Amino acid sequence: MTIAVYPGSFDPVTYGHLDVIERASKLFDTIIVGVLNNYKKSPLFSVEERVNILEEVTKDIPNVKIQPFTGLSVNFAKECNAKVIVRGLRAITDFEYELQMAQTNRVLAHDIDTMFLTTSLEYAYLSSTTVKEVALFGGNIEKFVPPVVATEINNKMKQQKL
Ligand code: PNS
Repeated sequence: MTIAVYPGSFDPVTYGHLDVIERASKLFDTIIVGVLNNYKKSPLFSVEERVNILEEVTKDIPNVKIQPFTGLSVNFAKECNAKVIVRGLRAITDFEYELQMAQTNRVLAHDIDTMFLTTSLEYAYLSSTTVKEVALFGGNIEKFVPPVVATEINNKMKQQKL
């Protein structure tokens, strides 16, 4: 049984992330999406909220599981018995950071490999950061995230403006 982990911040999950999750779910028996609880960042959504949102938007893909994690991605992969870390590559600008992470991870854990899926062209420009910025200024985010995510983001923005 081949297990892969897909670690990330997912603050919030976009159609770009979902594209990677769906495609990875066809390549591996199980995909465990790891939601990083990063104390250094102040995310829009708590780790519990991000896990709940991801569970909702992946509920129709039976071999996808969502789990929060702290610390190193390679340790998370080991805990999950995964030999592969999946990451999405949108553009050349992602490459340097992703290569550095993949190589660091390989030094940390020689038996775990990183596999990159190039994001589908229609989502290549998408990032959680830009989605949040568009929402903050009242722009329409329905082309970037599933309806349930758009509702959650807009609710958060309203709460923050109160
Ligand atoms: O969605 P993101 O923010 O691009 O995901 C980045 C993530 C979570 C994959 C990366 O920051 C990570 O792996 N963090 C855990 C700490 C770690 O393992 N660092 C070593 C790799 S350099």
